Amino acid sequence: MNLIFMGPPGAGKGTQARKIAEKYAIPQLSTGDMLRAAVKAGTDVGKRAKAAMESGGLVTDDIVVGIIADRIAEGDCKKGFILDGFPRTVAQATALDSMLKERSLKIDHVIDITCDHEALVARITGRSTCADCGEGYHNVHKKPAKAGVCDKCGGKLTTRADDNEETVRNRLSVYDQQTAPVIEHYRHKGAFKTVDGMEPMDTVLKNLCAIIG
Ligand code: AP5
Repeated sequence: MNLIFMGPPGAGKGTQARKIAEKYAIPQLSTGDMLRAAVKAGTDVGKRAKAAMESGGLVTDDIVVGIIADRIAEGDCKKGFILDGFPRTVAQATALDSMLKERSLKIDHVIDITCDHEALVARITGRSTCADCGEGYHNVHKKPAKAGVCDKCGGKLTTRADDNEETVRNRLSVYDQQTAPVIEHYRHKGAFKTVDGMEPMDTVLKNLCAIIG
């Protein structure tokens, strides 16, 4: 089962991809998580990606296409994968088409999680994430039992450098200009669905599972 989760920043792609990855035992391939790990580790990719990520802009296509090409070739992707945050430009979508064709693979479902932009600003600026296991929290919608501590693993909750209001608004504008056209790339290919991301998290999950089967 190969899936693409699309949607603007904060729509719930990461939250839902983690749950679906667990339920269907396939890996979540988040380019955002991979790039943040590269920045933290100070790798060459991380150094090239850092400034764009901090401003809310996009990292260059060659970097993210390279990351995904390497990642889907790994053994744990044989049973399938969830692309979370990729492709984000029409050029990335076209590169993915070629990558899949070379490997005789196809995408089973492209699911766009839709959300109101103003709600997204509130969601993202209230978000925290476990530094150890990656579990996501929110200061209104999903509070941890103990402030600053992950319910799942006891790890420390952290906030992302790009989760301030100014950067979030830039990320939303970049989404409208560069990522929204990717929806048209898939809409006409079939296997494209939308799910209302304004619903409570459990309802969104139920609706995703109904599509995935
Ligand atoms: P990335 O990490 O992909 O960030 P993003 O797309 O901006 O998405 P987010 O992770 O912010 O949101 P999400 O949809 O996963 O929401 P979440 O589930 O956390 O990318 C970061 C940066 O990396 C980019 O800006 C770019 O620079 C670079 N990059 C990454 N991929 C790239 C690519 N392909 N090309 C070029 N550059 C790339 O939910 C958000 C919050 O809302 C959480 O607190 C959650 O608990 C809460 N929440 C979730 N669902 C609900 C709900 N239904 N109701 C209420 N609250 C909810």
